[in-house]
Amino acid sequence: MELVRTVAALREHLRAARQAGATLALVPTMGAFHEGHLTLMRRARASNDRVVVSLFVNPTQFGPAEDFHRYPRNLERDCELAADTGIDWLFCPSEEEIYPPGDDTTVEVHRLARPLEGRFRPGHFRGVTTVVARLFGAVQPDRAYFGRKDYQQLRIIERMTEDLRLPIEIVPVPIVRDADGLAVSSRNQYLSPEERQAALALPRALREAEAADAAGERRAAAIRARVRRVLAAEPGVRVQYAAVVDAQELAPLRVLDRPALVALAAIVGTTRLIDNTVLGCGG
Ligand code: PAJ
Repeated sequence: MELVRTVAALREHLRAARQAGATLALVPTMGAFHEGHLTLMRRARASNDRVVVSLFVNPTQFGPAEDFHRYPRNLERDCELAADTGIDWLFCPSEEEIYPPGDDTTVEVHRLARPLEGRFRPGHFRGVTTVVARLFGAVQPDRAYFGRKDYQQLRIIERMTEDLRLPIEIVPVPIVRDADGLAVSSRNQYLSPEERQAALALPRALREAEAADAAGERRAAAIRARVRRVLAAEPGVRVQYAAVVDAQELAPLRVLDRPALVALAAIVGTTRLIDNTVLGCGG
């Protein structure tokens, strides 16, 4: 694996691969690698000739009160973990490389970015789509890998790619969970042992929704009520939203007559956690 710092150097590497007809995958990340990231990398490695992983803590997707400055950074460890998955290049650009002085372009997906995370993190998805569009331009991959953990982000990237007519296949990857059920996240390391216990109410609430779905419950409001009851029973969890929406359009849903997303966001201690599950996909 090679560490690459500039778009120009990356293009140089990619040119030879492309001429040889190799398929190229991109896995965008912000580092602090865990089993979620490594799963994306292994998936990409298994289905493509060449794999670029980008590592860039993107300032434009953090709000002024968010954790940009204390976001975990450990390049040496990340290099080792990424190299072990067999990826070819770790693209680790400076801020100026992605946002050159005088730049004047953002990319924004509108409707899909408004609900859920959009309500609590204004401007967040504009930062995400802007950086991902720039990474897509720099790398021009055939495929790009995104986790279902950030389900709304995945839908927004799918929409952007389709709307901008980019010839890139977006590959969704299932949520990776720890043995206790908590979705793996870089922010989990902020949790104390007690907070981690409290945080398990999130996956518990999602399992409750899945059980209701499996038992034939079709009313979105009833599922939402059961989810909220599980969350409310855990005093350490401050719920920001617990929503049941159309899994494609992220719009309100009354009856589960199509795939439905159950999406949660909650604060545990000082750590903000999100999790989700999709119902009505036949299992
Ligand atoms: P980051 O939070 O580093 O996540 C990088 C990728 O890993 C995302 O596609 C995310 O959904 C996926 N991921 C994280 N935890 C996961 C888990 N438990 N299971 C499965 N996939 C998981 O998401 C971002 O970075 C940024 O917004 C980015 C897309 C890189 C743009 O800056």
